[in-house]
Amino acid sequence: MSILKVENLTKVYGSKDTKVTALNRINLNIEKGEFISIIGPSGSGKSTLLHMLGGVDKPSEGNIYIENKDISTLNETEMAVFRRKKIGLIYQAYNLIPTLDVEQNIMLPMLLDNVTPKKVDYDRIVELLGLTERRNHLPSQLSGGQKQRVAIGRSLIYSPSIILADEPTGNLDSKNTKATLNLLKIANKEYNQTIVMITHDEKIANSADRVIKIVDGEIVSDEVVK
Ligand SMILES: Nc1ncnc2c1ncn2[C@@H]1O[C@H](COP(=O)(O)OP(=O)(O)O)[C@@H](O)[C@H]1O
Ligand SMILES: [Mg+2]
Repeated sequence: MSILKVENLTKVYGSKDTKVTALNRINLNIEKGEFISIIGPSGSGKSTLLHMLGGVDKPSEGNIYIENKDISTLNETEMAVFRRKKIGLIYQAYNLIPTLDVEQNIMLPMLLDNVTPKKVDYDRIVELLGLTERRNHLPSQLSGGQKQRVAIGRSLIYSPSIILADEPTGNLDSKNTKATLNLLKIANKEYNQTIVMITHDEKIANSADRVIKIVDGEIVSDEVVK
C-alpha cells in the first residue's frame, strides 16, 4: 500500500534574483513499512523535501498524498492534527521544549490533542529509550544522545504511521548514532512505521532498505539496499 506519494513536486524559494528552485518536479512513491534514507550534498533539497512531506511547508507545484489523502485539501488546523497523529518529526537539533521534563516532552503531541497516552504505552516507550531513570529531568540535564531519544519518544507515542527524520544522528557520537539507528529500526520492524531519514553519511544511509539520492533538487538514483 502506498503511504506517501509525491507527484511533480516543485519548490521555489524567493523570486527574481533570489529565486532558488530547491525541488524540481520530484516523483516518489513510498510503500507502507519501508525504511528509506535520503542522501545528497548540502543544499540539494533534502530538508525541503522532508518539510513538504511533513506538511510543515507548502509546495510551489505538485501534489502530496499521505495514505491517499491529498494534504493540500486540509486547512491549517486539520493539517496540524493530521501531522501530530500521522507524522513523527525528528530533527538534528532535537527541538525539545526546555521548560518541560522528559515525560511531558514525550507526551506533548498527545497533550496538544487532549489525549492521555495509555500508561502501558508510555512505560514501554520510556523503557525502550532507556530513559526510565530520567523521566523527570529537563532537557538541559540530559546528554545529546538522551535528548535525541526523548525526541524519538515523542515521535513514537502517537504511533504515527510515518517518521520523518532530518539528520537525526548529525550531532551524535558513534555510540549514540548506533542507538538512534537501532530505535528507528525497532520502530520500523516491530511497529511497522514507515521511516524517511535524511543523512550525509553513506554508511548510515545503507542501514535503510532503500536509498534515494538527491542532487540539485532532483532524484538522481533510487536503489534498494542489499
Ligand atoms: N526558507 C528558504 N528560503 C530561501 N531558500 C531556501 C530556504 N530553505 C532552503 N533554501 C534553499 O533551497 C536549497 C535546498 O535547501 P535544503 O532543502 O535545506 O537542502 P539540504 O537539506 O539538502 O541541505 C538551498 O539552495 C537552500 O539555500
Ligand atoms: Mg538539510
